Amino acid sequence: MNLFRKKSIQDLVLESQQKSGLKKALGALDLTMLGIGAIIGTGIFVLTGVAAANYAGPALVVSFIVSGLACAFAALVYAEFASMVPVAGSAYTYSYAALGELFAWIIGWDLMLEYALASSTVAIGWSGYFVKLLQGFGINFPVWAIKSSSEGGLLNIPALVITLLIIWLLSMGVKESARVNNIIVFVKLIAVVVFIVVAVWYVKPANWQPFMPFGWKGVFGGAAIVFFAYIGFDSVSTAAEEVKNPQRDLPIGIIASLIVCTVLYIVVAAILTGAVPYTQLNVSAPVALALQLIGQNWAAGLISLGAIGGITTVLLVMLYGQTRVFYAMSRDGLLPKVFSDIHPKHKTPFKSTWLTGIVVAVVAAATPIGIVAEMVNIGTLAAFTMVSIAVIVLRRSQPDVPRAFRCPAVPVVPLLAAGFCVFLMFQLPLATWIRFIVWLVLGFIIYFLYGYKHSKLNAANKPGALKAAK
Ligand code: ALA
Repeated sequence: MNLFRKKSIQDLVLESQQKSGLKKALGALDLTMLGIGAIIGTGIFVLTGVAAANYAGPALVVSFIVSGLACAFAALVYAEFASMVPVAGSAYTYSYAALGELFAWIIGWDLMLEYALASSTVAIGWSGYFVKLLQGFGINFPVWAIKSSSEGGLLNIPALVITLLIIWLLSMGVKESARVNNIIVFVKLIAVVVFIVVAVWYVKPANWQPFMPFGWKGVFGGAAIVFFAYIGFDSVSTAAEEVKNPQRDLPIGIIASLIVCTVLYIVVAAILTGAVPYTQLNVSAPVALALQLIGQNWAAGLISLGAIGGITTVLLVMLYGQTRVFYAMSRDGLLPKVFSDIHPKHKTPFKSTWLTGIVVAVVAAATPIGIVAEMVNIGTLAAFTMVSIAVIVLRRSQPDVPRAFRCPAVPVVPLLAAGFCVFLMFQLPLATWIRFIVWLVLGFIIYFLYGYKHSKLNAANKPGALKAAK
C-alpha cells in the first residue's frame, strides 16, 4: 500500500499554467479586499456575543489577541505555500504535493468542516441579523421559524432560505466579481466603523469589571470560539490563477487582510464589552442589540443592514470554496465523479453545488450556532496544523523550488502556528472532540473503501501515473 504517494509541485504549477484561461487582473489591493470580504462576517457580528457572555467576559479582547496570534503565524505559513504553488485548490492541493495522498485526503476532509459547515454557521448568523432588522420594522417571526429545535424552536427558516438562494446563484454560474466584492467590503467596513464611532462614547469602564469573570480558562475558551472570526484569510489563495503577480501579491493579500481584521476585531470587542454588560450579549445579533441598549436605534438598523450584506458574501465565498475543493478532490479520483461533473450550459459543478447546498441548508436550519461553529473551528485548526507541518517538510524535501515569499524563522514560526492551533483545539469541549473524531474515522473509512482505489495516482487505475514517495 502506498498511502503517501505525492503529486509533484512542478506538475501542479505546469498544470495551472496550461489550464488557466482566467484573466490575470487582480493585484495586491484586490486580494486584500477579497480576504476582508471572506473574513468579516458571523464571527465578529454574532460569535463575539456568545464568547463574551459564556466564556471570556470583557477579556474577550485578550481572546481575540490569542486567536489572532495563532492566525498570524498560520498566515505566514499559508503565504509561503501560496507563493510556491500558485494554483487554485488551497491546502488540499498543497498538501498533496508536500505530504502525500493520505494527508491531502485528511486535510480535504477537514476543509469540509472549514467551508461547508462554516457556511451553515454563517447562514445562522445571517438569519439573526435578518430577523433583527425586520423586528425594527415591526415584523416579528414566530420562534418556531427562526430557531433550531434544541433552542426551543423548530427550524431556522431564514438560514435555510438564504443558503438555497446562494446555492441557486452559484449553480447558475454567478460569481462575485472583484468590483462587487470591493463594494460589499466597503459596506461591511462602514458598518463596523459606524459601530465603533457611535458606541465608543457609551463605554463605561465599570462594564469591564470584573475583567476575567471566568478566568484564563474562559479567555482561552473564548479564543477557541472567536477563531471562527478569522477564518477566510486562506481563501485569498484560491484566487491564485487570476493574480497578476501571485508570488508577490498573494502573501501581501493574506497578511494585509488579516492585519486589518485583527485590529478591527480588537477594537470592536473592547467597545462592545465596554458599552453593555457582557452578560446581556448572548443573543443572535449582539452588535445591533448593544446599539439598541444604548438608545441608538438608527445605528442598530444600519449595522443590521451592513451585517446582512457583508455576511452574504462570506456565504458565497465559503460555499464556492467548498465546491472547488470537492471539484479538485473528485478530479484526483478521491471522491466520485459527480463532484466534478460540469453542467454543459451553466459551466458549473451543478450537481455538486446542489448536493453541498442542501446539506449545508439543513444543518443551518436544524443546529444551534455554537455547536456548528465549534466543529468548524476544530476542523480548521487541525487543517492549519497540518499545513504548518507541511511547510517544514517541504523546506527539507523540496529545498530548491522557488519561494517568492519565505515564511520567516522556519521551523520556529510554523511550529508556533501548529502549537497555537493545537492549544486552541484543546480548549474546545469534549463533545466537539468526540464529533470530530467520529468525523475523522468516517473520513478514513471512505478513503480506504473508495479513495485509495479510485485515486488517479493509483498505478492499478492508470499505469505509469504513480509518483511514489520515497
Ligand atoms: N470569518 C468568517 C465569519 O466570521 C467565516 O463569518
